[in-house]
Amino acid sequence: MGFGVSAIIELREVSKLYGFGDAMTLALDEVSLTIDQNEFVAVMGPSGSGKSTLMNVIGLLDRPTHGEFKFNGRSAARLGADQRAKIRRDTIGFIFQSYNLLPRLTVLENVALPLAYKGVPAGKRLAMASHMLERVGLQDREYFYPGQLSGGQVQCVAIARALVNDPKLIIADEPTGNLDSVASRLIMELLTEIHKTGNSILFVTHNPELTRYASRVVYMRDGAIMQDEATKFGEVAATALKQMYTIPERTVDDDLAGVSALMHAVPQKPAVRGATAAKSGKKAKRKPAKRKKSGAKK
Ligand SMILES: Nc1ncnc2c1ncn2[C@@H]1O[C@H](COP(=O)(O)OP(=O)(O)OP(=O)(O)O)[C@@H](O)[C@H]1O
Ligand SMILES: [Mg+2]
Repeated sequence: MGFGVSAIIELREVSKLYGFGDAMTLALDEVSLTIDQNEFVAVMGPSGSGKSTLMNVIGLLDRPTHGEFKFNGRSAARLGADQRAKIRRDTIGFIFQSYNLLPRLTVLENVALPLAYKGVPAGKRLAMASHMLERVGLQDREYFYPGQLSGGQVQCVAIARALVNDPKLIIADEPTGNLDSVASRLIMELLTEIHKTGNSILFVTHNPELTRYASRVVYMRDGAIMQDEATKFGEVAATALKQMYTIPERTVDDDLAGVSALMHAVPQKPAVRGATAAKSGKKAKRKPAKRKKSGAKK
């Protein structure tokens, strides 16, 4: 895991800020992470903890606000838009939760699409796409449209498309998020096979069961990595099993702590409030507590 020649990803104190002023969110908070070639890494953490932001930075879809990021030994900050696009096209395969297949293209054409961007001639790219579909067990669906497939099949197509360029790194953001357990297993087994051929795989999941497939699990919270655990293939990661990564429920005390912090910032007018209460002879009504706006989702 040290910084070495075989590292495909090197992040040093990478932060990502979204928005300005009150609406500012620290989506990544000084994340340092090294991923070597051929690692199979699961990323876990509660909603809003920065997992997708991390995937987008690593996948060169987004730029960090601070910190250093090297992709395959090259400093990402020095890459221009064209170079980033080229690296994405040639070295990274993306699989997202909401399948982004093009509905008006056949399954075969969807899988062949990355090759079209690369300038591979039509005949050759359809043959390559067909071969990939065979690998994911969907050769008999080549001429179907995405709308005619099951969720699991669509995700297999997305995987075939991510792999058609033979990318060094696969980034999968909740690839099984919309699938039942049988389809999830199929997808993970497919990724395992791909991993065996030497690819690095980085996948986000909320499902502790799926850490069985990983050799390493990174746990995030509030934009930071709170734990980085080596795990055995076939076993659920210890921390994931304990579900230590889940954020505890907010308690009334937490809410009140937020409210009192707000109150410190707002000059109070006890004299006026007291006067009103005395006049009406009633207890001063408690104002409904305003919740402090938090940047995190949910
Ligand atoms: N484009 C954006 N503009 C502003 N804030 C954003 C943007 N993208 C993400 N965020 C914020 O950054 C934080 C991290 O979001 P991110 O999508 O990385 O979380 P996540 O861990 O992937 O969550 P989930 O499990 O729900 O997918 C959240 O608070 C989110 O609201
Ligand atoms: Mg996400």
